[in-house]
Amino acid sequence: MEFRSSRWYAGNDRNSYIHRAWMRRGLPGAAFEGDRPHIAIANTASDLTPCNSHLDEVARSVMNGVWEAGGVPLNLPVVSLGETNVRPTAMLWRNLAAMATEEMLRANPIDGVVLLGGCDKTIPSLLMAAASVDLPALVVPGGPMLTGHFRGAPLGCGTDVWRLSEEVRAGTLSREAFLRSESSMIRSRGHCNTMGTASTMACIAEALGMTLPGTAGTPAPDSRLLERSHESGRLAVELVRQGRRPSQVMTRGSFRNAIVTLAAVGGSTNAVVHLLAIAGRLGVDLSLDDFDRTGSGVPLLVDLQPAGRHLMDDLFRAGGLVAVLKEVEDLLDPGAITVTGRPLTEHLEGAEIWDEDVIRRRADPLLPDAGIAVLRGNLAPGGAVIKPAAASPELLRHRGRAVVFDSVEDVHARLDSPDLDVDETSVLVLRGCGPRGYPGMPEVGNLPLPAKLLEKGVRDMVRVSDARMSGTAYGTVVLHTAPEAAAGGPLARVRTGDPIVLDVAARRLDVDVPDAELNAREPVMTGHARPVRGWERLYVEHVTQADRGADLDFLIGSGGDHVGRESH
Ligand code: FES
Repeated sequence: MEFRSSRWYAGNDRNSYIHRAWMRRGLPGAAFEGDRPHIAIANTASDLTPCNSHLDEVARSVMNGVWEAGGVPLNLPVVSLGETNVRPTAMLWRNLAAMATEEMLRANPIDGVVLLGGCDKTIPSLLMAAASVDLPALVVPGGPMLTGHFRGAPLGCGTDVWRLSEEVRAGTLSREAFLRSESSMIRSRGHCNTMGTASTMACIAEALGMTLPGTAGTPAPDSRLLERSHESGRLAVELVRQGRRPSQVMTRGSFRNAIVTLAAVGGSTNAVVHLLAIAGRLGVDLSLDDFDRTGSGVPLLVDLQPAGRHLMDDLFRAGGLVAVLKEVEDLLDPGAITVTGRPLTEHLEGAEIWDEDVIRRRADPLLPDAGIAVLRGNLAPGGAVIKPAAASPELLRHRGRAVVFDSVEDVHARLDSPDLDVDETSVLVLRGCGPRGYPGMPEVGNLPLPAKLLEKGVRDMVRVSDARMSGTAYGTVVLHTAPEAAAGGPLARVRTGDPIVLDVAARRLDVDVPDAELNAREPVMTGHARPVRGWERLYVEHVTQADRGADLDFLIGSGGDHVGRESH
């Protein structure tokens, strides 16, 4: 078969001479003879993305596998996003990373790609890029870190930061003790060890069929990750030879499998926007309501923080994702294939649960219905989401008086004021934090509770926003409200004192104010000052709402791998 890279390297003219000559830096001449697939390793390793800093080592194992299978591996550093470092929020840059990677995959003489990601936005941006170019591709998730301990108890990355910092604010933990926990939080290389967004998206990538089955959740320092990376390199060459593309793997059935997986593992709400964005790139018909339809009735089987107790290392030890999926095999689409060419369900043969405290049996779930609920109503005509597994059951049906904040800065300025008119029945409403308003839809939807309520022992309240929430966070938090306030959604017209009505069972989120009165109010659309240049300006002008994945409108749909013109 003729490989795509031959369009650069084959022939005896000046241009093929140039393409070959400049690449002859240690590559054997046989690399250009046309029978070896050229495999890019899209590598998000970066010192400023500490969760991915070990990916160069992973890349070396992938390279060995590619060589062994007769391919030519090529390291391709791509835009990397460190969730804890990048301001104003890594989500602002997800589409930039996806667009830059898409363009570099298309522009270069490659036949296939291995995608190395880990930290929250890296796997979504890589999958969006691969979906758009539609060259043979597979993901190697970088894996979670090992469990750290503080005072003899395990520490969950992120989740315990939120919990301990609230304890400091409540006066039940000293600041000194809190700061001492810092050096124990990150025990090893790898991404957050809770079922946060990084762990969720690794599981989702596998459920979509885009990893070598059995890879997701392998801890970053575990030698088996390098073994799987080597095998993934071999498989990448095979994928090219067989011509299997992401559009053949990530079908509607695969997305259904991803939604079942999301519920069964108690995954992050962020997966909703990422899956909608990836589906959009592929032209797969996926809507917000599919999450509710497909996820409803799926049991929560994994007892991991933030919804439960354990951590990713425990999940791997207990049998891993394949053992979880084996329990819900009947809910999976048997026709949805993986990068191996075989259905996901075939790869579950022999999967076993080794610790039923971590992975529950179907007959004994943590929750019978763990799907992410999609809410609608006069406050969220475009939809909003809530993760019931991370919420307080008694708050899932609630009516309370709104206490409205116009921005994150407004929260910081007023939340702990003794004069704030709030009690435990109030509903905290935060606006101006959607894709366009912030811009970038930050993870601030789980806004902290007012200090005076924490001191009274209150640990959860209903919160409503157009923001996202960290996958490591918890609480009765309604997120992704669409349209956002900055796009003129009803959230912009809510006032402090309005009754907010949440009814998760009925899938409703309303403000109990007559429509005529609500519509007559002047909307508060005070987002961040409108960006005047660069990516932020492009983003604000083109970003879609959360119910469409917060992608840029002109990136929806596949661009394919074709490049029409030579460079010389
Ligand atoms: Fe990187 Fe959590 S900060 S995965």
